Amino acid sequence: MSQVKIFDTTLRDGEQSPGCSMNLREKLEIARCLEKMKVDIIEAGFAISSPGDFESVNEIAKAVKDCTVASLARAATKDIDAAWEAVKVAADPRIHTFIATSPVHMEYKLRMTPEQVLEKTASMVAYAKKYCSNIEFSAEDATRSEPEFLCRVVDTAIRNGATVINLPDTVGYTTPDEMRSLIEYVIKNVPDSDKAEFSVHCHNDLGMAVANSLAGVLGGARQIECTVNGLGERAGNTSLEEVVMAMHTRPDVFKDITTRLDTTRIYRTSKAVYTVIGQNAPLNKPIVGKNAFLHESGIHQHGVLANKQTYEILTPEAVGIKTNNIVLGKHSGKHAFESRLKELGYSLTAEELVACFEEFKVLCDKKKTITDSDIEAIVLHKAAVEEVDESESFILDWFDVHTSNFTTSTSTVCLKKGDEKFEGVSLGDGPIDASFKAIDNIVNPVEHTLELYTINSTSEGKDTLGDVSVKLKAGDKTYVGRGLSTDIIEASLKAYINAVNKMQAAQEK
Ligand code: KIV
Ligand code: ZN
Repeated sequence: MSQVKIFDTTLRDGEQSPGCSMNLREKLEIARCLEKMKVDIIEAGFAISSPGDFESVNEIAKAVKDCTVASLARAATKDIDAAWEAVKVAADPRIHTFIATSPVHMEYKLRMTPEQVLEKTASMVAYAKKYCSNIEFSAEDATRSEPEFLCRVVDTAIRNGATVINLPDTVGYTTPDEMRSLIEYVIKNVPDSDKAEFSVHCHNDLGMAVANSLAGVLGGARQIECTVNGLGERAGNTSLEEVVMAMHTRPDVFKDITTRLDTTRIYRTSKAVYTVIGQNAPLNKPIVGKNAFLHESGIHQHGVLANKQTYEILTPEAVGIKTNNIVLGKHSGKHAFESRLKELGYSLTAEELVACFEEFKVLCDKKKTITDSDIEAIVLHKAAVEEVDESESFILDWFDVHTSNFTTSTSTVCLKKGDEKFEGVSLGDGPIDASFKAIDNIVNPVEHTLELYTINSTSEGKDTLGDVSVKLKAGDKTYVGRGLSTDIIEASLKAYINAVNKMQAAQEK
């Protein structure tokens, strides 16, 4: 068997895309999910890019024990110094350095000649190698580079100590046939190609990132760079869940190829990433979308009932979606709640368990049956709220909203901070606008804009929970707040207060 390594760049290429920024706590949470899911390499960030990035790469390097931890670095000494400084504490550190090799990038972005790019490759790979034995070199925009020149660059990188050679499709331009041929060509024409592992890193501008990565594997690549949910610049990167499940589902095509990934942790990890960035999977998203395993049409349902294989090529259980529909309710005790959580893959501390169980009991009074999605929402929301120090932040005490389609909405909100209570009132263009303004009147937050407001139901039925995400932007930072309630105005208020608390806490640091 030949192992394809899964290099996850959710925390670097994924996080770098608009609206997906994460704070340190969130990055650590995702890194732990990735480690449990058994990705091989976590690219934790781009250490030189900001002090915050440096700190998160460093903290992830300290926390993660079971995966290689990499930091990105341009082919420049100060980048490589920062990358090494951040990852050197890791159990298995890697420096990932890159330089562009396509004519257009060399001429207009780098303003360097091909010979200068070759020299830089040699000197910077050798420089990184003095620090670390595990060096990845990426030829940025490889798929638009001259193949002969690309081979010279790759040869130079390997001679100077690169152990992994990544050939990115930086602008999502290539096709599967081209990708396979490129990998085959470089492996064949670089004399020492067997001294390095080859890697693909594809962007999804033309919707071919997964197909191109898989073609790269057929061409000889043994590392795939990808992100959870396909997050990433523009149209995103190769989606981890799709590329892994494609290999898993088609062993006849990907003969003798394995990954060490625990596919049963895919769904939970996907959910954690969506929660952190305040988004939800599109309904028809392969593998993790709500409809991915639903059979709506009569013909399909009939077929599936007769034999699952008629329309089902992979099972929800394989990616960790539990189809056990045992529902919990008002009479369920703490043990039943805890064991359901365990089955769903959550292990909470005793304190977290008590807090979530309390929420669960409150919900039982409002909703007849509690589904797995409700339970997951409770846990994920608790984590969002606990991120801020409760004694230092505002919590919702009560609200009173008046709205109709022929008057201006008014909202009065009472917030608590420690033992103090504060009331704010405002008119607004609808109940949510009025309530957010009433909160602003109390908190007087820093200048910000509302970047995103989404509301989803956690399950079917009119008594479902409203799951609200709010994203606020202040300066170049974004803050995601989450709120959960059977009352959608209350859910919206809680989400907004959660985001405002995070924003204010960051300002005070
Ligand atoms: O897309 C790209 O080329 C990259 C490299 C830095 C690996 O992200
Ligand atoms: Zn990229």
